[in-house]
Amino acid sequence: MFNTDPHTSCAPDPQGLQRRQLLATTASLGIAPWLLSACASPAGTNTSSPQATGQRRKLGGLEVSSIGLGCQWRPGATPGVVSDLYSSRMDRPAALRLIRRAAEKGVTLFDTAEAYGPFLSEDILGEALQGIRNQVVVSTKFGFDIDQKTGQRLGGTQSRPEHIKQVVEGQLRRLRTDRIDLLYQHRVDPLVPIEDVAGAVKDLMAQGKVLHWGLSEPGVQTIRRAHAVQPLSAIQNEYSMLWRGPEAQVLPLCEELGIGLVCWSPLGMGFLAGSVRSDARFESAPPVPDFRAAVPRFAPDALPANMALVDVVRAWAQRKNATPAQLSLAWLLAQKPWIVPIPGTTNVAHMEENIGAAAISFTPDELRQLNAAVAAVRIQGDRLPPAVMRMAGVEAPLKR
Ligand SMILES: NC(=O)c1ccc[n+]([C@@H]2O[C@H](COP(=O)([O-])OP(=O)(O)OC[C@H]3O[C@@H](n4cnc5c(N)ncnc54)[C@H](OP(=O)(O)O)[C@@H]3O)[C@@H](O)[C@H]2O)c1
Repeated sequence: MFNTDPHTSCAPDPQGLQRRQLLATTASLGIAPWLLSACASPAGTNTSSPQATGQRRKLGGLEVSSIGLGCQWRPGATPGVVSDLYSSRMDRPAALRLIRRAAEKGVTLFDTAEAYGPFLSEDILGEALQGIRNQVVVSTKFGFDIDQKTGQRLGGTQSRPEHIKQVVEGQLRRLRTDRIDLLYQHRVDPLVPIEDVAGAVKDLMAQGKVLHWGLSEPGVQTIRRAHAVQPLSAIQNEYSMLWRGPEAQVLPLCEELGIGLVCWSPLGMGFLAGSVRSDARFESAPPVPDFRAAVPRFAPDALPANMALVDVVRAWAQRKNATPAQLSLAWLLAQKPWIVPIPGTTNVAHMEENIGAAAISFTPDELRQLNAAVAAVRIQGDRLPPAVMRMAGVEAPLKR
């Protein structure tokens, strides 16, 4: 018998979890197959009930904290320094402390990828989670063509089944774990039928090495086809007040199929947190260019007009006694109960501020007004550089 609401039909299943953990253990043996801390919060920040850390959401059958942490880091300009995709940096011990503090504050969803670094972010996450691995959900991604020995990017996508299996072995090693809770295909490979990808993941699940899977920025037919072979737990797409593309087709499809939506760049790459000025110019030169230098919506001819959205966010943040980052994340949470943002940060105070968003709610009338104010702003410029845009919404080839 099926519950007709696919988002509640996968209610917590302790037995299932135990079974998966057993599978994972046997496989590893080779048998077979929040809340703000007052001191860290800026004045005017929402500091309501500590229960907010305890709020949980479902991505398919996987329960996670309502706000996760994005761990997307690359080597910085000097040894021992890690940089985000933008202009923030920290040393490696600070990255370890950030992750552990997030876990202490009730964050359970940690998002990373093979391609972040490459390998560096998985390696940091694995080290940080030692001793607390079983309290959290580790999500990572495969799907770019990366030399498994050197970490060198070879260019383009790579989702051949044997490659996926090889990548997962390296991920398990770097993450210092025997299972990946949520494994995504980072981008659809235009040369590999999604059925083959789903089949490879299904094999990995049978071995207990992967517990749930998802797709990032896929075409909608590819979602259906993948889900038919091996049910998906999550789609990870860009979604924020700055980019509402998923509302047209992806959100309705997730609702229909009982798949959760994990939102990447939920703060619009820092823009919605109010940390980008209208005259901002981003570093485009190596060794650590700011990705936003190549993003059309942040170009000098688009940015000043787009600041109208920040004005909306600031006004509503004040109205809700929150910060702009919190207001932006709370807006996402209010869209659907199965939406989970994964803001990235290098800053413990920002992380604590961000998880405070889970305590903010809107009345239906407030949400209507806020949605109308957001919709009234016409964003100028594409969300990504052309080469990256071409990899989004791709439909996998049909199996012959
Ligand atoms: N699937 C995909 O293709 C894909 C693509 C991109 C990202 N992702 C995932 O999504 C995660 C988040 O995305 P993102 O990092 O691109 O963008 P984001 O979360 O929208 O924004 C991150 C930026 O916001 C700033 N920030 C965070 N909290 C803040 C606060 N409270 N106040 C002021 N500034 C704040 C950060 O700087 P500070 O360090 O100074 O806080 C950083 O510059 C990544 O870590 C990654 O896991 C996935």
